[in-house]
Amino acid sequence: SANGVRKINLNWMKLQSRPVIFDFEGISMTHFFTDNWENVKNFQARPDDILIATYPKAGTTWVSYILDLLYFGKDNAQTKPIYESVPFLESCFQKFPAGTEMADNVTTSPRLIKTHLPVQLVPKSFWEQNSRVVYVARNAKDNAVSYFHFDRMNMAQPESGDWNSFLQKFMEGKNVFGPWYDHVSGWWEKKQTYSNLLYLFYEDLVEDTGREVERLCSFLGLSTSPEEREKITKGVHFDVMKYNNLTNYSTFPFMDFKISPFMRKGKVGDWKNHFTVAQNEQFDEVYKQKMKNTTVKFRTEL
Ligand code: PPS
Repeated sequence: SANGVRKINLNWMKLQSRPVIFDFEGISMTHFFTDNWENVKNFQARPDDILIATYPKAGTTWVSYILDLLYFGKDNAQTKPIYESVPFLESCFQKFPAGTEMADNVTTSPRLIKTHLPVQLVPKSFWEQNSRVVYVARNAKDNAVSYFHFDRMNMAQPESGDWNSFLQKFMEGKNVFGPWYDHVSGWWEKKQTYSNLLYLFYEDLVEDTGREVERLCSFLGLSTSPEEREKITKGVHFDVMKYNNLTNYSTFPFMDFKISPFMRKGKVGDWKNHFTVAQNEQFDEVYKQKMKNTTVKFRTEL
C-alpha cells in the first residue's frame, strides 16, 4: 500500500546520515557512486545500448521517460518506476541492486542506461561498442537552482547549505559529479569525434517537446508515427509526469518531499527567483572564464 511504502521510506531515511564528498579522479563524489567502481569501469556495454548522459538535474528523467515510451510504451506497458526501468549505472545505494547489476538484468532491448559521469569516466566499453548516447544539457543557472533544491530534499546527497554557499560551491565545481562547466563542454567535445552522440538542450525540450521527440526518433532510427509521437509528447508533459508515480520518484527512498518535490517546477528562467543581482554578476564573470575555450552555447530564458 502507499502507506507501507511511506513507512519503509521513512525508515530508510532515518538510517541515512548525509554522505561526505571526496575527490575521485579529480571529481567531487560520494561513496554512492564509487563503491561499485570496479564493476562500473569493467561494465560490458552492448551495441544497441542507449546511454542517457547528463549533469544532475539537467532533464535526465524527462528524456529517460521519452525513450522508455518510444521503445516500450506501445500499450501503456510501463509498470516499473523510471529508476528501475532505466538503471543508474554508477549508483550503489544500500538495499538496491547496484546500477551495473540492474543493467545486466534488463531483459528488454535496447537497454536504456542512465549516467551522470563526466565523459572521461564513462566505461570504455560504450565507445568500443559504438553505443548510442543521448546527452542532455541545461543552462548553468537553472541547473544550479534545481540542484540546490535536490540537495535540500535528498538525504543521499550532501547538505545543500544556504543558497549563497551552494552557489559558491557550484562555481567552484565542488558538487557531486564535479564542475558543470567541464561536464557540458567535455561532452560537447566528444560529439565532435563520436558520431553516435545526440546533444540535446533542456531549453529546446521546454520550447518544443514534439520537435525534440522527432529529433530523437530520427537519431535512433525510429519510424514512430506522428500520432504516436504526439501521444508521447502529451504523456511526458511536466504536469503529467509530476502526478505519475512511475516518474515522480514518490516511491524512492531518501527523498523528503515535504522539503521539495522531485518534479519541482520544470521551467526555464526560475533562476531569476533565486539569484540576487550581485550573485548574477559574479556568476556571469566566473562563467565567462570557465567557458572561454568551448563553443557550446546556452539559453537562460526563452
Ligand atoms: S536527476 O536527479 O539528475 O535524475 O534529475 P533530472 O531528471 O535530470 O532533473 C530534474 C529536473 O528536471 C525537471 N523535469 C522536467 N521539466 C520539464 N518537463 C518535464 N516533463 C520534466 N521532468 C523533469 C524537474 O522538474 C527538475 O527541474 P526543476 O527545475 O528542479 O523543476
